[in-house]
Amino acid sequence: MELLDVRNLRVTFQSGKEEMEAVQDISFTVKKGETVALIGESGSGKSVTSLAIMGLLPENGRVKDGSILFKGGDLLQRSKKEMQQIRGKEISMIFQDAMVSLNPSMKIGKQITEGLKYHKITERRNLKQEALRLLSVVGFTNPSTVYHQYPGQLSGGMKQRALIAMAISCEPELLIADEPTTALDVTIQKQILELMNEYKIKTETSMLLITHDFGVVSEYADRVLVMFGGKIVEAADVFTIFNRPIHSYTRGLMNSIPRIESPQDYLTTIRDSAVENPFYKGRAFAPETYSLELKTYYSESELVEVEPGHYVRFFTEKEGVTQTWQNL
Ligand SMILES: Nc1ncnc2c1ncn2[C@@H]1O[C@H](COP(=O)(O)OP(=O)(O)O)[C@@H](O)[C@H]1O
Ligand SMILES: [Mg+2]
Repeated sequence: MELLDVRNLRVTFQSGKEEMEAVQDISFTVKKGETVALIGESGSGKSVTSLAIMGLLPENGRVKDGSILFKGGDLLQRSKKEMQQIRGKEISMIFQDAMVSLNPSMKIGKQITEGLKYHKITERRNLKQEALRLLSVVGFTNPSTVYHQYPGQLSGGMKQRALIAMAISCEPELLIADEPTTALDVTIQKQILELMNEYKIKTETSMLLITHDFGVVSEYADRVLVMFGGKIVEAADVFTIFNRPIHSYTRGLMNSIPRIESPQDYLTTIRDSAVENPFYKGRAFAPETYSLELKTYYSESELVEVEPGHYVRFFTEKEGVTQTWQNL
């Protein structure tokens, strides 16, 4: 059994009479100890996916279809109260903006001990000791000072560390990190990611790491899900994604990082074989101008397994449409 098993998840938002599908039938798993990266540009549905898992969708959002199995049980069938028990204790989330999750008017120490108390983690007398320990785990050299500080007294990187201390305080089995370092400068980003990764390895925690940065993916992910327009367009282990990316959107995202030498010949071969897949006649990838307009001219396939564990969405030209690929 996988730790997390998301099946055919659909999430819609209602605004007025309009219903918009932000997440369109996505399925993926996260195993124990594994880091799965969810990568895609802004608006592709990454945060909505994680909020659905946490049971924290905004008022106007709802899960239309699918299941979110966590240790075999469907989180979507849990009551609000049960989800409160699971959040923070079994599944924790680290948000991009620490200020969203930190209470500005409560001292850091108290915020950590409140979480521990809520989940009945330790006895009262051990709470402070445990909070201090956690603050040192996340790299504070002066835990007892930070313990008595308010979030506003901390720098961005320090706030993010404090948030991580809270997120790991109850030793969750799954950590969801939604662009945890985007707001920080590059050196601090690296420190925070290293910290999370070390913790993750040491404790065999699973992680769903949301990012739009392929550099981050290459360093920390075991498997990668590439999201575009609410769908997964390509999925594979990190080695495969970097060495044999097929979907043009994946390759487009990768172009923003320094290129590793790519085995071009192999790439061509696998693309050709993908196109010739007897189960699917279609294009392995879209032009560089890949956009939602494509839907006018092309139908998207389901994800096709082009080699073991490597899935790609294909396109076929719609009948009766004269527009050619090159014209798009
Ligand atoms: N509260 C909301 N109401 C309406 N639409 C929303 C809401 N939150 C997100 N969306 C829409 O859902 C889509 C996916 O958003 P999101 O998951 O936040 O993207 P990202 O991949 O950048 O995290 C976007 O088109 C966004 O406009
Ligand atoms: Mg987001």
